[in-house]
Amino acid sequence: MLYAWRAMMNSDTTKHPSADHRLVLAPMEGVIDSVMRDLLTTIGGYDRCVTEFVRVSQTILPSRVFHRLCPELLTGGRTPAGTPVFLQLLGNNPDLMARNAQVAEALGAPGIDLNFGCPAKTVNKSQGGAVLLKTPDLLGAVCAEVRAAVAPEIPVTAKIRLGFEDDDSFEAIVKAAVDGGVSELTVHAKTRRQGYRPPAHWSRLAQIANDARLPIIANGELWSPSDVIRCGTVSHCKDFMLARGALCRPDLARAVRHAWHGLNTPAMTWAEVFPLLQIFLRSNAHAYEPRHACNPLKQWLVYLKHYFPQAGALFSSVKRIRDFEEMDLALETIAPKLSEAA
Ligand SMILES: Cc1cc2nc3c(=O)[nH]c(=O)nc-3n(C[C@H](O)[C@H](O)[C@H](O)COP(=O)(O)O)c2cc1C
Repeated sequence: MLYAWRAMMNSDTTKHPSADHRLVLAPMEGVIDSVMRDLLTTIGGYDRCVTEFVRVSQTILPSRVFHRLCPELLTGGRTPAGTPVFLQLLGNNPDLMARNAQVAEALGAPGIDLNFGCPAKTVNKSQGGAVLLKTPDLLGAVCAEVRAAVAPEIPVTAKIRLGFEDDDSFEAIVKAAVDGGVSELTVHAKTRRQGYRPPAHWSRLAQIANDARLPIIANGELWSPSDVIRCGTVSHCKDFMLARGALCRPDLARAVRHAWHGLNTPAMTWAEVFPLLQIFLRSNAHAYEPRHACNPLKQWLVYLKHYFPQAGALFSSVKRIRDFEEMDLALETIAPKLSEAA
């Protein structure tokens, strides 16, 4: 079904004139998987995606782990819309990270991203994610070994925060990653302590964006085209990563691109979003076991309701449905009412 919808979409929406800005679709564990990447990149506006993190702890992982989190490896490392998907690794052992990066490269990943931002306690306890912000030397060593392990034409990028407890070591962290040879750095403009709470401290990026020898991608609290434009002014960054905002507003990247070109095009309406829910549900029925197939839809509705109040009402009426057929029927029943209201 997603296939048929893709063919219907105006292909112009997936292409965009080469502005001197880029938009990256964020990694979001358990939320932005290959089905969601397909949907959002088909709507368009993204230059790149990053997978959910592949956790590297003690072994060289088998290829099935990489394929599970990044099925796009089977199609040239790109979404069906043609957007490259970088594979994200999370771990603290430079040698193991490097050897797993080689597996990802051999499987066809177009780029490797290193996760130094995950705040989850379980992940941090096993010395992965944001905890490496406390030890810039180790963070730099992971970057350097991964960089040395894969071919020079494979970009190695990193995703960091401003720091762990505070932002005092931010410049040292950036220097370690840059000296380690990463070619781009995404900064979620908060410390680990600040978690996901607003505000994002975009202004903290301005100095490094001016000084760094590589692109700095700003991330955090980008919910609307005007947020992205304001963030650009304050952070001096040209490139941006969209995360929760991309789920609340599926056309966000496209709308940002239009805003950069001075166009004020109408936002997607609920009547336009609703058919995407049906497509999304049916695609998940192929991607997941039947008993899990409704979960991604419910999860997405929780994000969508921030922008579309109708999604909140829909969530309340379907939240107890577990069976795919029942959910599909529930959406089918609601669809005609929507077109009557439009
Ligand atoms: C549910 C969830 C899962 C996430 N998973 C990842 C992940 O796997 N890797 C990563 O680097 N960041 C992950 N992040 C962080 C996001 O990529 C992003 O940095 C963060 O949400 C800030 O951007 P936003 O304010 O636009 O949402 C996750 C965030 C959320 C909310």
